[in-house]
Amino acid sequence: MKPRVLVVDNDPEMVSLLARHLEGEGRAATAVTSGAEAVAALEREEYDVVLTDLVMDGVDGWAVLREAQRRLPRARVILMTAFASLETAIEAMRHGAWDYLTKPFKLAEVGLAVDRALDDLRLRDENRRLRAEVEQRFSFDRLLGRSKAMQGVFDRLRAVADTDATVLLLGESGTGKELAARAIHHGSARRAGPFVPVNCAAIPETLLESELFGHEKGAFTGADRRRRGLFAEASAGTLFLDEVGDIPLPLQAKLLRALQDKAVRPVGGSEEIRLDLRLIGATHRDLLALVGEGKFREDLYYRLAVIPIRLPSLRERPDDLMLLANHFLARAAGALGKALEGFDEDATGWLLGHGWPGNVRELENVVERAATLARGPRVRRVDLGTEFVPETALGGALRPTLAELEARYIRRVLEETGGDKTAAAKILGISVRTLQRRFG
Ligand SMILES: Nc1ncnc2c1ncn2[C@@H]1O[C@H](COP(=O)(O)OP(=O)(O)OP(=O)(O)O)[C@@H](O)[C@H]1O
Ligand SMILES: [Mg+2]
Repeated sequence: MKPRVLVVDNDPEMVSLLARHLEGEGRAATAVTSGAEAVAALEREEYDVVLTDLVMDGVDGWAVLREAQRRLPRARVILMTAFASLETAIEAMRHGAWDYLTKPFKLAEVGLAVDRALDDLRLRDENRRLRAEVEQRFSFDRLLGRSKAMQGVFDRLRAVADTDATVLLLGESGTGKELAARAIHHGSARRAGPFVPVNCAAIPETLLESELFGHEKGAFTGADRRRRGLFAEASAGTLFLDEVGDIPLPLQAKLLRALQDKAVRPVGGSEEIRLDLRLIGATHRDLLALVGEGKFREDLYYRLAVIPIRLPSLRERPDDLMLLANHFLARAAGALGKALEGFDEDATGWLLGHGWPGNVRELENVVERAATLARGPRVRRVDLGTEFVPETALGGALRPTLAELEARYIRRVLEETGGDKTAAAKILGISVRTLQRRFG
């Protein structure tokens, strides 16, 4: 199939000259002599390249550019104008034109500009195809990973998904425990049932029992009506107990009983409710160490850790880094409607060298922010906005203590989230409770 070019200019001689030249070079060219005709053509046909004059009567080149972007986001638009100015050129690029030609030009120049646009399109299509292939091969549900470590995790997830076994997901904050839990649910016979996530660290201790098991009307002050509880809501589906390590000891005993009896008793109720659910637990804590300290019941630990699966930290799997970074970039660029195609060498170097204490979540945040700032086509080192450490080291006390640094960082993240503690805790990789403890 010949590449298709739409040529737009008020001057009929100009368009036929350009069209004939492009046809001679093996392109299929359509010539129109007004912006309105161009818009009509864009509605009817697909083009790879749109070559349009900027200043025209009626519908001008800017409008053609906008319409081309709306109708054919893949197409490359080249603007032509006799009124050359640096500002216009910059405007053209800012509005997403691919290239810019100043009249008078040689026909060969037009041919070259069209060639460059077509080469770029081919490259982009090829990249897209490769990326789609890679993501299919290196993914399990929505989890991506090409590293040996993640391939091993996928094997284990696949193996347990279709059983009803209790799974305990372990791993640092932001390593994908929740995503893994959802993947198990989607791969199980319970996939048509609900997936009910509960963040045990985010629910105040006093409410946790009634949240989980439900309560009768009037069971305690404020219980003005009966509530089913999350265990009951997960019926026929999967209950995901996130941060199980944060469940207080007295409730651990009740949880153990519920798991043994496969039934729960709502607060203030006398009837037991039978459970039909699959339980998946997760924690970023060292549960065995908590058992050793007497903070977590050993019997409950063994109930939960029937099948433990550890999600490796991002540091342990550098092979996954650019796969994930490019995936998040493509997703963010799509959402922002920006043409961003990867990271430049400096940015790549920084990404690969960073320690990623916040793991995949941190990477996702950094890339999304970079996508917002980047002007493209490649993300640069400055777009990554990684100036935090030097900035704090320089600002204020020359040698801040760790506690001061921590307080400053927490304050800064809180500013970024506009004071939203839940969002801040997520970024910081700590529970809301811990955040409140450290920061009132
Ligand atoms: N392997 C992966 N592929 C794609 N996205 C991932 C992967 N791992 C994590 N993510 C993304 O990173 C973010 C954090 O993942 P998730 O919430 O599952 O982590 P977590 O281990 O539950 O973290 P926390 O302990 O802080 O709750 C999510 O937005 C998730 O979509
Ligand atoms: Mg989580």
